[in-house]
Amino acid sequence: MSKTFRILAVCLGNICRSPLAEAIVREHLERAGIPALVDSAGTGNWHAGEAPDKRAIRAAKENNIDIDHLRARQFTPLDFERFDLIFAMDRNNFSDITALARTAEERSKVHLFLDFAGVESPLDVPDPYYGTQEDFYAVHDLLDAATAQAMHRLIPMVQGR
Ligand code: 4NP
Repeated sequence: MSKTFRILAVCLGNICRSPLAEAIVREHLERAGIPALVDSAGTGNWHAGEAPDKRAIRAAKENNIDIDHLRARQFTPLDFERFDLIFAMDRNNFSDITALARTAEERSKVHLFLDFAGVESPLDVPDPYYGTQEDFYAVHDLLDAATAQAMHRLIPMVQGR
């Protein structure tokens, strides 16, 4: 039996973008019948232990996804050992994570999510924290479309395990 493939979505606070990304990637993989473990974390620790932002919960709920039970945690270098793929939501997250990588192998696990998905523009999932509910719906839709696009690349990686 091969080990479960593990994917980690990372943003700054782990209360807006990455909990949505976690749930959306999990949903797409489940729908495709592909077994994998999906989690999320934040590069910062300000919101550790908190539930996702209410606006993220609402954007998920309106798309039939439940993220109420998720709790924020900070990214740790141990995550390089625990996960096969690490998806950074924006370029700041990408550089904060790669700065913690100790080897080329750890560094190679980290991808800018929209780039991995083949989305040419935008490069960053915009941070909706200081925005409106509408911005959270837009983040949901961007992540959902990008995840759909990423599946052709993700499925062979998961199955190649
Ligand atoms: P996230 O959004 O990185 O998508 O979870 C943010 C959440 C909190 C803060 C910034 C962004 N903050 O400054 O507390």
